[in-house]
Amino acid sequence: MPLICFASPKGGVGKTTLAANAASDLARAGHDVIALDLDPQNALRLHFGVRPGDPEGFIATLRDQPGSGPDRKRHWREALRPTGQGVELLAYGQTDFSAALAFADELAVRPDLLAGPVREMLEEPGRVVVVDTMPGASAQIASILPFADLVVTVLLVDAMSIALIASVQSGRAYGQALPGEDDPRLFYALNQFDRRTRLGSAIAAAAARKLGGRLLATIYRDENVAEAGAAQRMIGEYAPTSRAAGDIRALAGAIASRLPVPRARRLASLHA
Ligand SMILES: Nc1ncnc2c1ncn2[C@@H]1O[C@H](COP(=O)(O)OP(=O)(O)O)[C@@H](O)[C@H]1O
Ligand SMILES: [Mg+2]
Repeated sequence: MPLICFASPKGGVGKTTLAANAASDLARAGHDVIALDLDPQNALRLHFGVRPGDPEGFIATLRDQPGSGPDRKRHWREALRPTGQGVELLAYGQTDFSAALAFADELAVRPDLLAGPVREMLEEPGRVVVVDTMPGASAQIASILPFADLVVTVLLVDAMSIALIASVQSGRAYGQALPGEDDPRLFYALNQFDRRTRLGSAIAAAAARKLGGRLLATIYRDENVAEAGAAQRMIGEYAPTSRAAGDIRALAGAIASRLPVPRARRLASLHA
C-alpha cells in the first residue's frame, strides 16, 4: 500500500544511498518492499549488488518501442528483480541522455505511463514502494507525488540546505507537485552530519528547530557509507555497528512508524 518517495532539490546528497538502505531495513523488518528507481542515472541497483553493465530495468522500457532486447516494453511484474536483501528491485534500466529526455517529455503529457503501474503496485495490501528520484522537479516526480504517503527530502547539513527548506515547503522545489507547507506528507532527513565542525552542529540544531517533528533522522557522515556503496553492499551488512548504520535504522524505523495502517489491520484493531 504505502509509497515513500526520497527526493531533494539537490543532487549528491544521499537520496539513493538512503533509499536503498532504508528499503533494505524495511524488508529486514518484515515489510514487502519494492525499490523503484526513477532516476536515469540508474544507480539504485548498484546498492543491491547488480553488475554495473547489467541493462535490465523498468522505467527505460515504458516508452513504446519495438524489439525484443532489454528495452522491450513489459509489465512491471516481469521486470521485478529479487535481491539478496529481500527487496524487489525495479531498476531504471539502460538509457542515454536523449532517450531520458524524450521519456521525460512523453511523461509530462502522459503521466499515466508511470502512474498506471505505480497505482497497480500500491493496490497490493501490505506492500511498501520506496522510490528514488532525480534532483529537483521532474516529470517523474510529478507523476507519482499524488500517490505518495511520505515524501522524505534529503538535505546535507550545510547553510545552503537550510535555505532550500522554504522551496520544498512551498512546493517549488518539486515543480508545484506538492500542495505546500502544511502538506502532512512532507518529512526530512539530514545527511552527512559532522558534530566536530562548529558550523555542522549549529546548522543541525537550527534545522531541527525549524523542522520539528518532520525531521525523521540525522545521519552522521561516516566513511563506512561510501565504502559500503563502493562494495555494493548495504551499510547494515557492511558495518552493522557503525554510527551511520544506526542512524539509517532509526530513519527506517521513523518511516515505518508513520506508514498508514493497512485497512485490514485498522479494522481488526477496531474490533479487538
Ligand atoms: N552519511 C554519509 N556519510 C558518508 N558518505 C555518504 C553519506 N551519505 C551518502 N554518502 C556518499 O555521498 C555520495 C552521494 O550519495 P548518493 O546517494 O549517490 O546521492 P544522490 O542520490 O542524492 O545523488 C556517495 O558517494 C555516497 O557514498
Ligand atoms: Mg541518486
